[in-house]
Amino acid sequence: MLEKLRGKTKDNGRENGRPPTDDAILIDLKDISKAYDTPAGPFFALKNVNLQVDNGEFVAVIGKSGSGKTTLVNMITGIDRPTSGAVIVAGTPIHEMSEGQVAPWRGVNIGLVFQFFQLLPSLTNVENVMLPMDFGNTFKNNKERQSRALHLLDLVDIKEHAFKKPSEISGGQQQRVAIARSLANDPPIIVADEPTGNLDSVTAQAIFELFERLVDQGKTIFMVTHDKDLARRVTRTVILSDGEIIDEYLETAFPKLDDGRLAKARGLTEPQSFTPGETILKEGEQPQKCYIVSEGAVEVLLREPNGQQISVARLKPGQYFEKIDLLRGGAKIATVIADPGYDEIELLALDKDTFHKMMGDTAAPQDVE
Ligand SMILES: Nc1ncnc2c1ncn2[C@@H]1O[C@H](COP(=O)(O)OP(=O)(O)OP(=O)(O)O)[C@@H](O)[C@H]1O
Ligand SMILES: [Mg+2]
Repeated sequence: MLEKLRGKTKDNGRENGRPPTDDAILIDLKDISKAYDTPAGPFFALKNVNLQVDNGEFVAVIGKSGSGKTTLVNMITGIDRPTSGAVIVAGTPIHEMSEGQVAPWRGVNIGLVFQFFQLLPSLTNVENVMLPMDFGNTFKNNKERQSRALHLLDLVDIKEHAFKKPSEISGGQQQRVAIARSLANDPPIIVADEPTGNLDSVTAQAIFELFERLVDQGKTIFMVTHDKDLARRVTRTVILSDGEIIDEYLETAFPKLDDGRLAKARGLTEPQSFTPGETILKEGEQPQKCYIVSEGAVEVLLREPNGQQISVARLKPGQYFEKIDLLRGGAKIATVIADPGYDEIELLALDKDTFHKMMGDTAAPQDVE
């Protein structure tokens, strides 16, 4: 059905002045900072963020509450502007546009999906899906808009509720309507802020698979999510921490890897969170994986002959450990704990063989696949 939709709408975007999207880089954030005014002075929700997203990528943004995910999304959609830096989306420097200019631009270039749907309660579901076409003056007439809207509702399995109001369907169903609406003008980019945050896991999975199919059809998706299982399945995961993108830890761990292979490495890792002071590896345990510190720090403790444990190393983001690092001073096996001095400690677990291939062999990119 997606083929059918795309086939039908391919020329409409061009008629509406959408720039060609053949260029590899579709979203280019250059040294973005965003300060909010607060009574206590400016608060920086984003700090010198640099991020490039290629056409056709499926990017998941993760990070704890307040890390700046929505702020980042608002930069890409032009809903808000950076305090400094440049935002170039589909070739357009949107940070230079006025609010009046950015709204029609957004209407044809970006499909928006929010956690709480944001459907207009006074309109029927099909009218909600038609709305972006009405605003953008896309498609010939009301009949064609309605027929397209019904196709989109069919695509997300909600067509039978087309003529109901949003209040008459469930939250999960409302989100399906919102996703159909995001596709109304066949935009190249779908930006979704916690799209599955309010859905049960089965519905979330179905919605995620729909996004995957859209990526297969050439869409670029930028999705904020708390769901690490979903985040692991996308082409790229961007981790935000206090307004900064964390990727230094992988670069530090694998200094010889180029960006493409670092991105692949990121996809192969499994994030694991620990509470301050929590034991990560017990003395004598044989870790099955290698671990890269991505947030906070870990402490390596060794037992002295008198039975006392002493701290021999503190590993910070970008540093890694496995059994071999823990064999210090002969046969001693260390204990590794999450550093109690940090609120949140996160490690990236990586399969040992993959890790060693990446450490040792930088000549053959296929080795990390
Ligand atoms: N309008 C505002 N004025 C002042 N501070 C703000 C404003 N909007 C957001 N912030 C602050 O900026 C930081 C980032 O907020 P943002 O909404 O981007 O976080 P988030 O990662 O989307 O969080 P969540 O997962 O809870 O949605 C937070 O500390 C937040 O309190
Ligand atoms: Mg948010």
